[in-house]
Amino acid sequence: DGAATGSSAGAGGGNDKIVMGFAQVGAESGWRTANTKSIQESAAQAGIELKFSDAQQKQENQIKAIRSYIQQKVDIIAFSPVVESGWDTVLKEAQRAKIPVILTDRAVDSPDKSLYKTFLGSDFVEEGRKAGQWLVDEYKDSKDPVNIVELQGTTGSAPANDRKAGFQEVIGADPKFKIAASQTGDFTRAKGKEVMEAFLKSTPKIDVLFAHNDDMGLGAIEAIEGAGKVPGKDIKIVTIDAVKDGMQALADGKINYIVECSPLLGPQLMDLSKKVLAGEQVEPRVVTEETTFTQEQAKQALPERKY
Ligand code: AHR
Repeated sequence: DGAATGSSAGAGGGNDKIVMGFAQVGAESGWRTANTKSIQESAAQAGIELKFSDAQQKQENQIKAIRSYIQQKVDIIAFSPVVESGWDTVLKEAQRAKIPVILTDRAVDSPDKSLYKTFLGSDFVEEGRKAGQWLVDEYKDSKDPVNIVELQGTTGSAPANDRKAGFQEVIGADPKFKIAASQTGDFTRAKGKEVMEAFLKSTPKIDVLFAHNDDMGLGAIEAIEGAGKVPGKDIKIVTIDAVKDGMQALADGKINYIVECSPLLGPQLMDLSKKVLAGEQVEPRVVTEETTFTQEQAKQALPERKY
């Protein structure tokens, strides 16, 4: 019944497979590894051919990767911008080549919103606010000063800028909260440890560490233990992400609270890409749903935690 046309049917046939170029930030954290896996697996599931590159946390590498995707005439480009600024030129090149772009995970600060179709990812300001709110609740009965040290994410990145701002907005309402030191740990465990070691030497009294991701918090825990102090008790710790290692440290009492940031953006990204390429209208901003975890909640969630 209409099967015997004898033409090139079968295994997907002609050129209808969508080709996506994805320019990833790097492999700096457990979050990033889970994010990469989510994108690779969901591309395969959606039947999308994925060209993937790792920029090793360098903007120039990401720009090179995007240019090469333009040259290769991929159908769609998606990327997680390592920093917020400096994208207009390359995004205009993609626009001129009529290749749609989707931002995933991190934002750009370009005022021209026509340079990309949509931005899929977390509300990082809200994540910072949640971390700040935990602190406000934790110290609600105390009038003493609370000395905070902050490990910031990659300088100039959306999550570092936004988490800092959201946190400051909430704690800023009460002058007892003081940020005694704040420096970048580049979202890595090694840098988190190194900077925390310096904080422990330079800052006589540290009550709280706010780390912009779990990995830096985990590095800092090593530094704190190395200095003979007890993480989670002598120094309270709040972090963002909720990857498995972070959740384990939370369940073990070494971290006090984690604000979730979901790396599982792959399925939504593939879905949005198909819609964009089919000419359908998509929302300009798609915000990821996420929660928070106390130590007790981490114990319960850990056995099911996939990443
Ligand atoms: O952009 C998301 C952030 O980047 C994650 O919180 C962090 O772990 C990652 O490196």
